[in-house]
Amino acid sequence: MDIVWIHGFPLSSAIFEPQRSIRGASHHMIDLPSSLSSMDAYAKWVLEHAPQKAVFAGLSMGGYIAFAIARMAPQRVAGLILIDTRETADTPEAKKGREELIEKVKEKGSSVVVDSMLPKMLTPAAPAALVDKTRGIMATRPKEFVLNALRAMSDRPDSTDLLPTITVPTLVIVGSQDTITPPPDAERMARSIPGAQLVRIEGAAHLPTLEKPEEVNRAVEEFVK
Ligand code: MLT
Repeated sequence: MDIVWIHGFPLSSAIFEPQRSIRGASHHMIDLPSSLSSMDAYAKWVLEHAPQKAVFAGLSMGGYIAFAIARMAPQRVAGLILIDTRETADTPEAKKGREELIEKVKEKGSSVVVDSMLPKMLTPAAPAALVDKTRGIMATRPKEFVLNALRAMSDRPDSTDLLPTITVPTLVIVGSQDTITPPPDAERMARSIPGAQLVRIEGAAHLPTLEKPEEVNRAVEEFVK
């Protein structure tokens, strides 16, 4: 079985480093390019770089891309792993926030995104070394990626109607302390996708793959079996 891991914003495939050791699957860790600015464009690009049939595992923005893949090429999807993500589109208020952030990034650079999002990625209990590592991952993404991804997230469609049509095995994972895409989002998705399984990771926020890798890996290994 192949698993294609799709990272969130403003991150890279480094957030899935601990998942390479998950047994029973071949792992494809991809870094999204900077030049694309819609979920459909990301989905097309991921499909071009993915095996013919795979499980798509998306974290947050990676989940938005996984939904676009499921819409665009359901025959390529063997399963879904939806990690700290949501199916709904941005609210008008969230869109306004994205626009303001785009202007700030244009003016001051992508460090404004790192500064505003870093405190929400991990729980307050995360060790300093993990906080530094996460800051380092976020800081590697070029301004072009940050601006284009903000545009893509703001314009993404609502995937609510897609959920009941998903027929492949689906695992929904959420950090119990995630404030960006909190547990009620995961619970709603798991309720709407036929047969979906929900795993709540205690002691993790938006990045359980890095903060609680053993728990995430155990859940994925069980799912793969
Ligand atoms: C992400 O982690 O990919 C983003 O925070 C998602 C979002 O802002 O909607």
